[in-house]
Amino acid sequence: MPLTLDDVRDKLKAWDGCALKKTCTQAVLGEGNPQASVMFVGEAPGEQEDRQGRPFVGPAGKLLDELLGTIGFKREDVYISNVVKYRPPENRDPTDEEKAQCMPWLQLEIALIRPRVIAPLGRHALGHFLAKGSISQLHGKPHKVTDSLTVFPIYHPAAALHNPGLRQSLYDDFSALGAFLKARQ
Ligand code: URA
Repeated sequence: MPLTLDDVRDKLKAWDGCALKKTCTQAVLGEGNPQASVMFVGEAPGEQEDRQGRPFVGPAGKLLDELLGTIGFKREDVYISNVVKYRPPENRDPTDEEKAQCMPWLQLEIALIRPRVIAPLGRHALGHFLAKGSISQLHGKPHKVTDSLTVFPIYHPAAALHNPGLRQSLYDDFSALGAFLKARQ
C-alpha cells in the first residue's frame, strides 16, 4: 500500500528527532488537498496551531484564508504546511538545526503531493527552496526550479500583521500568483 498523508501524520506523532517536541503540545503536519497543485509553506506552528494541531489557524491563518479567497481558493483546495512541525517556545524563530531536523517531513509531504507550485511564506521557508536572494528581492515572482516545479515566494502573512506597510505587498503577491496560475492552465 502506498504511503498516505495520514500514515505520515501517525509516523510524525511517534517521532523523537527534534527537541521542540518536549516543549510543545503536539506536532502539526500540513493539511489540505492531497492532490493540490499549489502548496504554501510557512515557518512553524504558533500558539493556536499548537493547541489545535492544525497549520495556520491563528491570526496569520485568518489572513492567509482571506488572501486565498482573493484568488478564488478555499484552504481545502490547496495544501498548507510548515518547515518546522512543532511550536518553538514563545514563538521564537526556529534554529537552523530545528529546521534541518524537521525538513524530511516537509520533503515527504512534497513527494506525496507533487505540487507544481510551492509558495514559501517568508524567509525561513524561502531558504529551503531558493539558495540565493532575500524574500524582499524574490517575492511576488515565479522562479522556475525544474520543468515540473516553480517556486513563488510570498511575504509571511504574520509579517503584515506586525508591519501593516507589507499588507498591500501581500495582496499584490497573491494577485500575481493568481495571474501566474491562470496563465498556466
Ligand atoms: N505561522 C506559521 O509560519 N505557520 C503557522 O502554521 C502559523 C503561523
